[in-house]
Amino acid sequence: MLIHALGWPVMESFATFGSLAHRPVPPDAMRRFNDLVGQRIATRKPVAYLLGEAWLQGVRFVVDERVIVPRSFIAELLPQALEPWLEAEPRRVADICTGSGCLGILAALRWPQARVLCTDISADALKVAEANLRLHRLSDRVELLHSDLLDAIPTPPAGQGIDLLLCNPPYVNAAAMRTLPQEYQHEPALALAGGIDGMDLVRRLLVDAPRVLAPLGIVVVEIGHERAHFEAAFPRLPVIWLPTSAGHDSVFLVQAAGLREAA
Ligand SMILES: C[S@@+](CC[C@H](N)C(=O)[O-])C[C@H]1O[C@@H](n2cnc3c(N)ncnc32)[C@H](O)[C@@H]1O
Repeated sequence: MLIHALGWPVMESFATFGSLAHRPVPPDAMRRFNDLVGQRIATRKPVAYLLGEAWLQGVRFVVDERVIVPRSFIAELLPQALEPWLEAEPRRVADICTGSGCLGILAALRWPQARVLCTDISADALKVAEANLRLHRLSDRVELLHSDLLDAIPTPPAGQGIDLLLCNPPYVNAAAMRTLPQEYQHEPALALAGGIDGMDLVRRLLVDAPRVLAPLGIVVVEIGHERAHFEAAFPRLPVIWLPTSAGHDSVFLVQAAGLREAA
């Protein structure tokens, strides 16, 4: 908030903050800072909404209360961790439940040859994603689609399809939804609530995914702290847990072949 109030460039200032910290804060910046802190305390709004922006993997996204604050742990995996599971550079990537578009955009930046499809059921969220596509000049390579999970995605011809399907769905279970801190109540409930066991969306996604995946495609899904619920829902699915800063079992990967066999 202070960097924002000072009007300094965010990423560069984080990197050099130690050496800048002795500088006096001009009175108008101090007023803006105090105002932000006051709003943060009074409203309990996440800082990203107060500032209208959030940063993920060093990339800026515009955000407001139509989307959750970008923080998916899948973002950490995009630079390197998926490589052993990808046959080649992915040509077709999908970001299902895209919200601000953050994962689809990070994927598009990571794989410059890829075409990326971002879907969401919320028309409001897609407007924010559109603003982020414009911000990153990716509108020619990243397509937005209004869809209930995969429903609006046409079935590809045999042998083709999505090489890498990313999804950070709503996965908070009903009991946890009731105890979320006030900050989360500023986020769209549609983006958080995943039904009684948190798995409503994951169930439907994994059942339908083989229809749109390439033969060697992979699916990467974030489920937070819901591993027990996930394993109860999918006791025999051969998934690979991918370590992130959230722990070793918040994100899993499953191959198209594994999904087809399980089906
Ligand atoms: C947890 S947020 C993830 C947003 C973004 N991918 C991220 O990581 O910041 C989940 C998103 O799923 C969307 N959503 C909820 N139900 C959906 C459905 N049935 N089909 C598609 N998207 C859905 C919500 O609108 C929300 O934007």
